[in-house]
Amino acid sequence: MHGSNTGEGSEHHRDAAGTVRRPGRRWWTEAVIYQIYPRSFADSDGDGIGDLPGITARLGHLTELGVDAVWLSPFYPSPQADAGYDVADYRDVDPLFGRLADADKLIAEARSRGLRVIVDLVPNHTSSAHRWFLEALAAGPGSPARQRYVFRDGKGPEGAEPPNDWQSVFGGPAWTRVTDDGHPGQWYLHLFDTGQPDLNWDHPEVRAEFLDILRFWLDRGVDGFRVDVAHGLVKQADLADWHEPQEILSGKEIDKPRPPMWDQDGVHEIYREWRRVLDSYDGERVLVAEAWVEPVERLAAYVRPDEMHQAFNFEYLLAAWTAPAQYAVITRSLEATDAVGAPTTWVLSNHDVVRHASRLGLPIGTVRPNGIGIGDEQPDAALGLRRARAATLLMLALPGSAYLYQGEELGLPEHTTLPDEARQDPTWERSGHTLRGRDGCRVPIPWEADAPSYGFGPTDASWLPQPPLWAEYALDRQRGVPGSTYELYRTALRLRHEHGLGRGTLFWLESGDEVLTFRNGRLTVLTNFGDASVPVPGGAEVLHASAPLDEDGRVPTDVTVWFRS
Ligand code: NOJ
Repeated sequence: MHGSNTGEGSEHHRDAAGTVRRPGRRWWTEAVIYQIYPRSFADSDGDGIGDLPGITARLGHLTELGVDAVWLSPFYPSPQADAGYDVADYRDVDPLFGRLADADKLIAEARSRGLRVIVDLVPNHTSSAHRWFLEALAAGPGSPARQRYVFRDGKGPEGAEPPNDWQSVFGGPAWTRVTDDGHPGQWYLHLFDTGQPDLNWDHPEVRAEFLDILRFWLDRGVDGFRVDVAHGLVKQADLADWHEPQEILSGKEIDKPRPPMWDQDGVHEIYREWRRVLDSYDGERVLVAEAWVEPVERLAAYVRPDEMHQAFNFEYLLAAWTAPAQYAVITRSLEATDAVGAPTTWVLSNHDVVRHASRLGLPIGTVRPNGIGIGDEQPDAALGLRRARAATLLMLALPGSAYLYQGEELGLPEHTTLPDEARQDPTWERSGHTLRGRDGCRVPIPWEADAPSYGFGPTDASWLPQPPLWAEYALDRQRGVPGSTYELYRTALRLRHEHGLGRGTLFWLESGDEVLTFRNGRLTVLTNFGDASVPVPGGAEVLHASAPLDEDGRVPTDVTVWFRS
């Protein structure tokens, strides 16, 4: 038996701000949280880049879909070297996306619709255009301004070699040399792009600054923060060489040394301090860790009772589409989070990975590709969508909290034939054109099949080209259409809510090589991974299915069914 019982009672009421409050139940333990990638959600002014007023105007979509909260990827002032994950000012809105007043309006409007709002916080690095970094460049070696970042002298003759052998996540060295007094000078660390210098989290001013940033947004009414690169803030003090390629997921084998740049024990004290700040506010504000840490037992340390509330479950996202792999990751995830009293989270897609409607159309066992382009092996689109729908119904029946990524409710695939010259992810350049990167999952989403930019904005402009097949996925082609992916999600979210699946408890009934069956409350969930169709028990009342059942009521391959027996 696994899962968390997180509270009693089914009564609920709306508070003054209109947010649904359920007494005795912590909203985030069972919430379905919808990720909005602001550049690509809805464009109100026709410049081809989505914006905050665009989001506000489309909030009705989210309430109709039936989610509980939104998480907004960064919208802060930024040179956009990494699509806004390079923040130049943590307390404002980039003119691309609107103004601070637009953020306030979005938060207020969301709350009046009963939606919670989580914003992105990027503490591992600033933008190289941040005031602090400009000061550090100007102030020179040994200055207090440089102490806020990770500046070091180079190695070798005239310091011409980087201080260590670390690689950037986007490819190439993790160090860049600056010019001091007109000559080649010190090097600074950037685990990501050169435009994203890593902060020095040993510095008290860095710590104080982020406490203040938390308060800035909490005071504006946000319900929490998704914490970017939560496992990266603290580096091993000696910055020792690593001798290994950069892998964002590491530490898989427990006895293997942990990379010196990830998942250092020192990060936890930072989150304890943040937790105390959040707890001083009313209304159950939350911290969500983006931590590419394995195994799940190590990830669970981030969600101990006095640290963060949730952590993304990337091991689940990465698990192969087979019954044993899914059984293992679900079981281990529930056990690991139960052990620390936290809810488990589930996620299949986000703005950093190939969309699951395409990922699951690749041969089982394919290592997660870093983007797919023309000339690469193309996913089987029909198979991918079929499996994605089955995977989603399986996920939404699990106890805990689930994350959805904009467009997945439309069954949207990855754009797998994006011309390379249109690519904007720094990964493409920094990897020397060996990794296509993440643009394919970031293409602006289609709302109306026959409108310019498929209804993304009032003009044809779109910061990444949308493929013609977007028309068939547009919301207006699916809304009210039985069997569409959109209606599949809506029904699933309604039933999930009615049956309290998020706060339920999972009992495995069958966990063989081909079929998984579990019970959550009065609902039974069966996924058929095998080649042959399988029966549902006689007398079962089928409530929902990811695809039509056979004529004789059997469950075909790659289908999930929810039933009551
Ligand atoms: C994780 C974010 O999700 C990703 O988009 C970004 O590139 C890196 N962190 C660096 O901030």
